[in-house]
Amino acid sequence: MDKILVLDFGGQYDQLIARRVRAESVYAEIKNFDQITIDGIKAAGYKGIIFTGGPNSVYDPASPHYDPEILNLGIPVLGICYGHQLMAYMAGGTIASAENASEYGKTTVFADECPLFDGVPRESICWMSHTDYVRELPAGFRTTAVSASCSCAAMANEVRGLYGVQFHPEVTHTAYGTKIISNFVFKVCGCERNWKMDDFAEKSIADFRESLAGKKVLLALSGGVDSSVAAVLLNKAIGQNLVCVFVDHGMLRKNEGDYVESLFKGKFGINLIRVNAGERFLGKLKGVTEPEKKRKIIGEEFIRVFEEEARKLGDVTVLAQGTIYPDVIESGKGKSATIKSHHNVGGLPERMSFESIVEPLRLLFKDEVRKIGLELGLPAEMVFRQPFPGPGLAVRCLGEITEEKLSLLREADAIFREEVARGKCEGMANQYFAAITETRSVGVMGDFRTYGRTIVLRSVTTDDFMTAEWTRLPYEVLEAASSRIVNEIKGITRVVYDITSKPPATVEWE
Ligand code: XMP
Repeated sequence: MDKILVLDFGGQYDQLIARRVRAESVYAEIKNFDQITIDGIKAAGYKGIIFTGGPNSVYDPASPHYDPEILNLGIPVLGICYGHQLMAYMAGGTIASAENASEYGKTTVFADECPLFDGVPRESICWMSHTDYVRELPAGFRTTAVSASCSCAAMANEVRGLYGVQFHPEVTHTAYGTKIISNFVFKVCGCERNWKMDDFAEKSIADFRESLAGKKVLLALSGGVDSSVAAVLLNKAIGQNLVCVFVDHGMLRKNEGDYVESLFKGKFGINLIRVNAGERFLGKLKGVTEPEKKRKIIGEEFIRVFEEEARKLGDVTVLAQGTIYPDVIESGKGKSATIKSHHNVGGLPERMSFESIVEPLRLLFKDEVRKIGLELGLPAEMVFRQPFPGPGLAVRCLGEITEEKLSLLREADAIFREEVARGKCEGMANQYFAAITETRSVGVMGDFRTYGRTIVLRSVTTDDFMTAEWTRLPYEVLEAASSRIVNEIKGITRVVYDITSKPPATVEWE
């Protein structure tokens, strides 16, 4: 299989670059610049290398550099933004800072003919974000594009297969960005389109059938996309030797537990154990109001329940996890500050002893996981479902968690989702849900005074959930949801819509 290496120098678009290459059916993997040596690169047999952008200046002593020998391996290289400057610097050019002429945003770029710009018009819009620029080209290179304020918007040494672009071809604002990446991958590197999801699924099923033969494998199934796809894939490989444990902690959305059970047990015939542990979790959460404490209790209790089930099964030797590629990349980069402790099953293997761990999706991006899910027969509603946090409705039930509040919340959330669907607004939002507050307010129904709780509706539009905008849902949808919630759910007297973006707020309320 042909492979492209994305060598990461701290750019914010490293994953996007790899996804763009994979969208061309060519496998791309990301390595931090200090994660792979020249020998490692030689041994891996890459057909091409892409240097990412990065926040530094090449002359800054703290800036990431790489062995210049990389340009002599005979492997084509494309440098992007910082990567373009780094390539120029490594090959003997000079970089300067254009303090007064930095470019940011959509910029008209004038390109000359070269393999990288094949099919790209002379004049097109590109996304720029830089202050430094390549002032003197290295020997053997020529300028292949300019902009009004950048004398070297792109450069090339065609003989050596070395190309640099000051702009970002990987972001959608660059009109011909996809074309440029595809030119690099096919015309410059000579890759073939041999990264295909159906081949991947078929091959992994065959490999797991062999490597896991006769072994019992345990998977914590949450009903989220990743663990669901991992479950179906492994089930196709080893059938009943895969045991899925689905811990219903009692804080799932309306009908969620039954849906997951009927889909996996009924449709796929998966060996699934549903543990109804709602009362147990609520018992542990009694009287607890502090958000982090609630999360910690749920996380720990989850592990305890899972451990107990594993012990009951006895002869399980392998743990399967739905880890996907962004998790693998992130875990190699060190941790950022904890805003909220996420309860995922990552902590399990340290406490439990398994002979091995399998992660069938560890090479895949989310969109690839979804493709495989559909190929394996999972329904679209499951594959494209919005994310649901591990601690479930707990993070949307402010203050102490009680069955009464949970049940009001479940109903309100279901109505909101129905109304968003009725208004055909699912495409506007990436995640939408209800939360229940501790605030009570007075209302009037008929001739009677009411006094009940306040429901918050939250809907966000986002690419990556790191930042998010509140969704401009039509007033009619909000009105229909609000009026149904107050009329149909006894105990709710008021509905409010959350119009805070992230940052400064987070998506969830706790
Ligand atoms: P926040 O609230 O941090 O949420 O802005 C960002 C995204 O993460 C989801 N989320 C979680 N997912 N375990 C998860 O698997 C968790 O503990 C958790 N907390 C938040 C949230 O729903 C949103 O999509």
